[in-house]
Amino acid sequence: MSASKISVAKKAINQIEKKFTKDMVLGIGTGSTVNFFIEELSSYKNHFYGAVSSSEASSKLLREKGIDVFSLNDVNEVTYYIDGADEVSPDNELIKGGGGAHTREKIVAASSKEFICIVDKSKLVNQLGAFPLPLEVIPESRSMVARKIVALGGTPEYRSGFITDQGNEIIDVKGLEIPDPEALEIYLNNIPGVIDNGIFAFNKPSIVLVGD
Ligand code: A5P
Repeated sequence: MSASKISVAKKAINQIEKKFTKDMVLGIGTGSTVNFFIEELSSYKNHFYGAVSSSEASSKLLREKGIDVFSLNDVNEVTYYIDGADEVSPDNELIKGGGGAHTREKIVAASSKEFICIVDKSKLVNQLGAFPLPLEVIPESRSMVARKIVALGGTPEYRSGFITDQGNEIIDVKGLEIPDPEALEIYLNNIPGVIDNGIFAFNKPSIVLVGD
């Protein structure tokens, strides 16, 4: 598994290395695959300006590797967003948020000119939904949101002991079939208290690279 993640991290570098410019800002996602990408990227730290990151964990790793990290509010443009995924559909729709960072991931993805998703083969599925779908929720809304999920036919599971970088909680939803990711993404985000859900249908990657 690690070998596959390393191979896709290298593929992502190959994809962008010739396009680096001194003022380029990269968007960096979260997770073990991205950690390998950051490792590879560190050799090129003088070839681009810096990064916007989707989590405190990635920011810490980027800084340790000598890459400057900026707030999204302080940059004009993010050229490439590079991130992993928990599931990838044949149409490049994703489930993300296994690490609980999907809200900021979606914000950075939406800010970027191009989203490059990096995964190992195990993430490719015919239809989204086997991986529990994460919802970031305002803590006070947790029980109400869970009841709405049960009414929808899903099984909500509180991610015990986990608080997001924004200070919220995560409900993982099992048992949902997702034949129409766009419709479910909209529906879930309309439940009061849901900050964002882990479906990336509107902000899907233009390129999905798969590890060997
Ligand atoms: C983080 O919240 C997630 O969206 C990750 O991008 C996703 O879980 C992929 O992680 P791995 O690269 O560790 O599989």
